[in-house]
Amino acid sequence: MRPTSPHTGSHRPHPPSRPSVARAAAARAATVALALAGCASPRAASAPAPATPIAATAARVRSAEEVFLDSLIARMTLEEKVGQLMQSSGAQVTGPGGSEGSLEQVRRGAIGSFLNVYGADTIRSLQRVAVEESRLHIPLVFGQDVIHGWRTTFPVPLAEAASWDPEAARLSARVAAVEASAYGLHWTFAPMVDIARDPRWGRIVEGAGEDPYLGSVLAAARVRGFQGADLRAPDAIAATAKHFAAYGGAEGGRDYNVVDASERALREVYLPPFRAAACAGAATFMASFNEISGVPAHANRWLLTDLLRGEWGWEGMVVSDWAGVGELMPHGIAADSAEAARLGLTAGVDLEMVSTTYRATLADQVRRGQVPVAVLDEAVRRILRLKYRLGLFADPYRGADAARERTQVLTPEHRAAARRVAAESIVLLRNERQTLPLRRDLRTLAVIGALAADTSATLGNWAAIGRKEDAVSVLDGIRGAVSPGTRVVYARGASPTSADTAGYRAAVAAARGADAVVLVVGETPGMSAEARTRSRIDLPGAQLALAQRLHALGKPLVVVLMNGRPLAVPWLAENTPALVEAWFLGVEMGPAVADVLFGAVNPSGKLPVTFPRSVGQIPLYYNHRETGRPAEALNGYTSKYIDVAWTPQYPFGHGLSYTTFAYSAPRLSTTTLAAGDSLGVEVTVTNTGSREGDEVVQLYLRDESGSVTRPVSELRRFRRVHLRAGESTTVRFALGMDDLAFYDLRMRRVAEPGWFRVMTGSSSRDVQEVQFRLDSPSGPIPVPERCGTARFP
Ligand code: NOJ
Repeated sequence: MRPTSPHTGSHRPHPPSRPSVARAAAARAATVALALAGCASPRAASAPAPATPIAATAARVRSAEEVFLDSLIARMTLEEKVGQLMQSSGAQVTGPGGSEGSLEQVRRGAIGSFLNVYGADTIRSLQRVAVEESRLHIPLVFGQDVIHGWRTTFPVPLAEAASWDPEAARLSARVAAVEASAYGLHWTFAPMVDIARDPRWGRIVEGAGEDPYLGSVLAAARVRGFQGADLRAPDAIAATAKHFAAYGGAEGGRDYNVVDASERALREVYLPPFRAAACAGAATFMASFNEISGVPAHANRWLLTDLLRGEWGWEGMVVSDWAGVGELMPHGIAADSAEAARLGLTAGVDLEMVSTTYRATLADQVRRGQVPVAVLDEAVRRILRLKYRLGLFADPYRGADAARERTQVLTPEHRAAARRVAAESIVLLRNERQTLPLRRDLRTLAVIGALAADTSATLGNWAAIGRKEDAVSVLDGIRGAVSPGTRVVYARGASPTSADTAGYRAAVAAARGADAVVLVVGETPGMSAEARTRSRIDLPGAQLALAQRLHALGKPLVVVLMNGRPLAVPWLAENTPALVEAWFLGVEMGPAVADVLFGAVNPSGKLPVTFPRSVGQIPLYYNHRETGRPAEALNGYTSKYIDVAWTPQYPFGHGLSYTTFAYSAPRLSTTTLAAGDSLGVEVTVTNTGSREGDEVVQLYLRDESGSVTRPVSELRRFRRVHLRAGESTTVRFALGMDDLAFYDLRMRRVAEPGWFRVMTGSSSRDVQEVQFRLDSPSGPIPVPERCGTARFP
């Protein structure tokens, strides 16, 4: 996709809706800021001399910020400090601008932040109370879940990950930031970067799937999209990498459940996308609800402080998840709210979302010496630093603008972007005898399924302020795409929420009279996302039997899936002529699906997650380790099932096109790599069909033998290429020590000498391979983790 950013370029601050009040408040805040900045801090005075002019500028900027924060914190009372650590929810604020109770708390400085409050006017009026009526005029920061669009709903994140297009991910986050900031928001609780290997877990829909590398690339892109080049810009919003960490590892896929993960699993599987988000500059992290091996994340000092702030050197702010600090009590690790607050704060949770253990107990605990004031001050500093970096002390009303709400939201450009990203996210799973694309000029086309006509389902879960009135259903998308002479007949047939088969008869009749049938089946959006674990991941309701009846008619049958997780649909996978994974694609779902069904767009999406044949195979993921007895068809005593194949229905990376692509074997720049060198890999891809199309070229690596076992395959690079019919291209990748490295027995990150396998192709199971050797006479090569490598783009 071409980089088309609707709102890059210079960011001119938008005039405040009520200029006089806003300007007066901003001026007051700026005066406070300047007055406070006047008090020099000892830390700034003793800073070492910077090495370069750039470092000198950075140090000046940094010390101005730190001087300001030092001065402000020095003037705060204990209660005001604790107030900054409280984030209240909109449910606690009623009426325009808030109930008297909340306003009073804002005046007293007892609330530092709100979530679930939005709208330029509402936010401006609350902010006015904070900056004009509170003693220190400290602005509030407003956060919200802006997950896949604000008013212009884009594909759900799992769908968007199927585009394997970081530019698409950046663009959708950028559009969301432009729209949400117009409504006064400063901060989103996104991206969710949890790796998920269990499709029963409903929140798999919110992430990028099962792969740490793809997840890292997309995490970085989304952070950049939300935050833009400058966090102070009125259309930038701070990002949150969540949920830290290993939330996707919930036992049984049951949301919020226990996770038992080794440090190796954390570092290899769950942490890389967080690290990538941190490297991309994510301003905040959110702690996860789960425990990890006995320690809930909200009380996990190793995770939130030693690793995140210490080892990674990240200096952002950590917010709790909803009441996550209070939940340390039911976890059974805190006896009362004072202990919960103590554990949360000292672990490194700065801002407490919704539960009030900090506000209720911390001031007293500091007075009694149970919590060092320095620990409190550090959390306050991180929250104030976020506000400072967002530019809120300079302009507390940044972005919130009723005129922007009207003019910069759901614009034609935003809709066009949503349609492009949606079409790129569609995965063609199966296409026998070129059933697809359909001709536009069929005499009669039957469209069947409750989901086909359901505009609100197109939006998916976590749709922010997306409205079903803005969305185009699959049925309407098809109606808009067929030629004028084509009759589109619709029958509801069956729905995901009911076992009722009364609609079968009309559906079969409609299909019988048609030249082709499009059947839309799957889940409702309410069946995935938070707390939406399913124990079965098949087609719910009476949808499968309907598909079987329609199939029996022998017509060209296209099944379009709408769902927020991988489904186990073996019958469909083995019987329907064409199967299209369309997820929940947002406001432009209908046109995007029609673009693909009628061939205006050649599908190019690839699965970001394995589709199992049966729920009993879970967890099933491509980058597993090998057993001593790898599965073999003819040998019973190998690692497999007696009642189902061990292989996936559709592997990670799978996705077809209306054209065909031929791959050469990978060619290497050398077969013997020396320590510190880089390996060139090239592969030639040819479009051997008759249509132009995009292909996502994938490169996987395997360390053949290590001091600890290594995955059978790990994605290390990918590239989307566009090829005309008959065209060839040579795709070149460079791999370095970073790509070969892993954590050894002593958890040192090293590349070990020995044989490696490079695999290139069109999915994790459709590859050609070649080997090379890493030579290092002095043994394992230390490869410290750092930002700026391909691993953390
Ligand atoms: C709970 C969810 O786990 C989290 O992802 C979300 O950001 C918060 N609620 C706030 O809505």
